[in-house]
Amino acid sequence: MSCKLSAIVAVSDDWGIGYEGDMIVSNKADMRRFVELTTGHTVIMGRRTLDSFPGGRPLKNRRNIVLTRDASFEREGVEVVHSVDEALDAIADEDEAWVIGGEEVYRQLLPFCTVAEVTRTHCLRLADTHFPNLDEDDAWEVVSESEPALIGADEEDHGIEYRFVTYRRPAATDEKEDAEPASDGQQATESPKRPQIRTMILYRSKHHGNTKKVVDALAKAFPGEIDTLDVATVDKKNPKVDLSPYHLIGIASGIYMGEIDKDLARVMQASVGTGDFVFSLLTYGGASKWYGKDIDGICRATHANFLAGHGCPGFDTWGPYKLMGGMNKGRPNDEDIADMIAWYDNLVQGYGDPLINEYEKRRRRAAWEAEHPDPTMMDKLKNTGRHLFGRKKKQ
Ligand SMILES: NC(=O)c1ccc[n+]([C@@H]2O[C@H](COP(=O)([O-])OP(=O)(O)OC[C@H]3O[C@@H](n4cnc5c(N)ncnc54)[C@H](OP(=O)(O)O)[C@@H]3O)[C@@H](O)[C@H]2O)c1
Ligand SMILES: Cc1cc2nc3c(=O)[nH]c(=O)nc-3n(C[C@H](O)[C@H](O)[C@H](O)COP(=O)(O)O)c2cc1C
Repeated sequence: MSCKLSAIVAVSDDWGIGYEGDMIVSNKADMRRFVELTTGHTVIMGRRTLDSFPGGRPLKNRRNIVLTRDASFEREGVEVVHSVDEALDAIADEDEAWVIGGEEVYRQLLPFCTVAEVTRTHCLRLADTHFPNLDEDDAWEVVSESEPALIGADEEDHGIEYRFVTYRRPAATDEKEDAEPASDGQQATESPKRPQIRTMILYRSKHHGNTKKVVDALAKAFPGEIDTLDVATVDKKNPKVDLSPYHLIGIASGIYMGEIDKDLARVMQASVGTGDFVFSLLTYGGASKWYGKDIDGICRATHANFLAGHGCPGFDTWGPYKLMGGMNKGRPNDEDIADMIAWYDNLVQGYGDPLINEYEKRRRRAAWEAEHPDPTMMDKLKNTGRHLFGRKKKQ
């Protein structure tokens, strides 16, 4: 391919790029740079990124190529393509083109890019989409880096530090045939360097087994990594589950009257503890993607860390939907499941090694504390007395 293909992206510290269809940080300087670099060229994006632009309109003064699997999709000012091959064919005669997101499209087109212009924004934000961590990929190297600057005082995210970093992939694939990009999310994210973590998914799937379907598929996709526990099997009088062997805790549920299953919430509350790392997997009948605030709330109450959540539509025959023969027929489908697997894989690739380190620290601290029990109140008073009156402890 003679066209120089580059990716351009703004990432947070854990390479998060978006949440619920929006960017996670707004930075006018970054926007200006984006416009400067891409104007006059071709940009390639996923349909969801197009939808995230004001009015869902394409970018001005650029040729906009949009990937979608929807054969009937049309939008003014947009060239629609339906596969990566079609996108690459469309730019074959161009000198320069830019991959502008989001996650699904970056992952598939990065193997054809030789440069990635990455705005590294120094913050951590809740994200449901990520860019691959190029610092952990030996194929990519940093060739230039701007001085750090701060987001402007007049902006919502003012004061956050950012840098423009240019990565290059010296041995980039020239011919698209060589790169063999994966056709779906699951393959696209597989990596030999997968962190060796252990995950427990606590779940409840009451209605149509939608949640169980995704949980089982996930466990099957990563054999030996994921244990699952249906909380219906947990003793109601003793709802505490030992989560100490696990680096990562998944909470998976359908949404019932806007909330996760109540038994699951009880087990979670009793079992999750300080410093645990938690993610959520939800299936729901409605249109909204943001459910599971109760999971975040329980994490806050138990001092656990809520990392991120993923949701997908699930077949629903509750209430009025019954009369219509059900909502979301066939969901979660293969694509939903592949998306969920890719999302989880990405979470593990991004957080896995830090989680393992953190877990090791906690294990060592617990062992030390077991050997050095907390002094009794009387010991504490005696120590304070010794300290005040300068007496030495009797040997
Ligand atoms: N921080 C940044 O620099 C940055 C940049 C861009 C985007 N973002 C964020 O990223 C998020 C969106 O990312 P995303 O991963 O959800 O979506 P996306 O990559 O923008 O779009 C995904 C969609 O593209 C289509 N698609 C993907 N691969 C395809 C293929 N091989 N063949 C045909 N169509 C294909 C599908 O559209 P259909 O569903 O229509 O079939 C798919 O749903 C948003 O939050 C956005 O704000 C951040
Ligand atoms: C009693 C009940 C209440 C529900 N309430 C909601 C709701 O508030 N919002 C929503 O999006 N879906 C709602 N649903 C749909 C379920 O969340 C959806 O079907 C989900 O995929 C069920 O998962 P499951 O098959 O694992 O139980 C409800 C379903 C039931 C049975």
